[in-house]
Amino acid sequence: MKRSELNQIIEDGIEFLEACNFHLPPFAFWSPEKWAQKGPRCDQIRTRALGWDVTDFGKGQFEKLGLLLFTLRNGEPKDPYKTKPYCEKIMILREGQRCPTHFHWQKVEDIINRAGGKLVIRLLDSDQNEQPRMSEPVKVSVDAVITEVPAGGVVSLEPGQSICLSRGLYHEFWAEGGAVLAGEVSSVNDDSADNRFLEPMPRFPEIEEDEPARHYLCGEYPPAKEG
Ligand SMILES: [Fe+2]
Repeated sequence: MKRSELNQIIEDGIEFLEACNFHLPPFAFWSPEKWAQKGPRCDQIRTRALGWDVTDFGKGQFEKLGLLLFTLRNGEPKDPYKTKPYCEKIMILREGQRCPTHFHWQKVEDIINRAGGKLVIRLLDSDQNEQPRMSEPVKVSVDAVITEVPAGGVVSLEPGQSICLSRGLYHEFWAEGGAVLAGEVSSVNDDSADNRFLEPMPRFPEIEEDEPARHYLCGEYPPAKEG
């Protein structure tokens, strides 16, 4: 993805969050110049990959296959119980934009429709070989009510509704009838090692530097300034 595109997607996201009356912490707005002055007191933001995360899953079609995320809090994947055993993200899905089919080996997550259009989630259990299990329905907790969905079937969440996605449960989701502000509350998140895409694809985009970054992505912070 071009840096100019990433800058614009984040700025459009900030506008959408403001329209939804969802407020971000101060580090969401720190410029690269400000980051250059930040010392080791900010290391939690660096090491736990908090902040902005934009991806097109390497396919170059962000409007169709992509996601804008902001990680608000997270523990250290290597030591969740000494740090914090939970994570929270906010995500923006544009209308018609899809997050591709994947599951997590470690993370258990609730996905919440916080505002906007419908959030539609397609579900598939996996077998021991990590392949989709087409023979049995999926049992899933939707707003704390056990719900049965045919293999490959969908659950449609209105604003306020949520679903709990267990380990090994394939999920793909998209927005219908308008952009969606989606929350994620989960166990500790490790995007470098805990995403199993059904169709292999990169989690993070390649970046073409066609203009200066106005917002760092969560893997781009410079090391802490000494002193
Ligand atoms: Fe997921």
